[in-house]
Amino acid sequence: MARKKLIAANWKMYKTPAEAKAFFTEFLPLVAAQTRDEIAIFPSPVLLPGVIEAAKGSNVAIGAQNIHFAEEGAYTGETSVGQLIAIGGTHTLIGHSERRQYFAETDEIVNKKLHTALKHGIIPIVCIGEVLAEREAGKTESVLKTQINGAFAGITAEAAAPIVIAYEPVWAIGTGKTATPEMAAEAHAIVRAEVAKLLGPAVANAMRILYGGSVKPDNASALLNQAEIDGALVGGASLKADSFKAIASY
Ligand code: PGA
Repeated sequence: MARKKLIAANWKMYKTPAEAKAFFTEFLPLVAAQTRDEIAIFPSPVLLPGVIEAAKGSNVAIGAQNIHFAEEGAYTGETSVGQLIAIGGTHTLIGHSERRQYFAETDEIVNKKLHTALKHGIIPIVCIGEVLAEREAGKTESVLKTQINGAFAGITAEAAAPIVIAYEPVWAIGTGKTATPEMAAEAHAIVRAEVAKLLGPAVANAMRILYGGSVKPDNASALLNQAEIDGALVGGASLKADSFKAIASY
C-alpha cells in the first residue's frame, strides 16, 4: 500500500500572530484542492491558538514544535500535550536537531516524549539525523540506528502506527546544502530496516519517513519523487505561502 506523503512546515521561532494570519489567508486557497498529500504546519506555541482557528475546516493540520514529556507540573517555559490537545493541536515534532543541540535533548528524553504523545493520541514526528563530522567519519548508519533504538525503546508495534520519522541530516538544515535524493533514500532505507528489526516489517513498511534539510521549491520534486521519501519537513522555505505551496505541488 502506498504511503500518503506528509508535507510539513517547521516555522521555528518566526512570525508574529499577524504574520501567521496573513500566511493562512494566502496559503489556504492555494492548497484547498490539494488532497494527494497531507499538509501540517508547526508554529511557535504563542501562535498555535490563532493558527488552529485560521486552519479550522481546512486540509492543513497544526502541531507543536515541542512538547514536554510530563502531563503537567513545575516546568517553566514548557508546553504539555494536554494543553496542545485542549486548543485543537494534533501533531508534534519531537527531538528536532535544534532541540538536541541547544536544549540538550537526548534520545532518552525523545523516547519519553514519544511515549507521552502516543498515549494521548498526538501524531509525533520524531526527528533524527547525523552531524557533518559523523557523516565524514562514516558513522551515519550507526548514529541513525542509535537514535532509532533510543527513541523507540518500549514502543510496541501496536502503538507505533501513528509515528512519523523525519530524517534530517544536521549539516543540511538551514545551510542550503541538501542531501542528494540518492543519499536521502539510502539513509531512509537504513532507518526503515532498523524499524523493521524493532517492530516488524509491516509497521516499518507503513511508517512514513520524511526528509528535511534545505528543501526548496527547486529541489522538492527530485526528493519527493523518490519512493523511499514519504514527505518533507521544511524550515526556511515554508515561511512564505507561495514557496511552501510550490513545495507541496512538487
Ligand atoms: P531548513 O530546516 O528547511 O531551513 O533547512 C529544516 C528543519 O529544520 O526542519
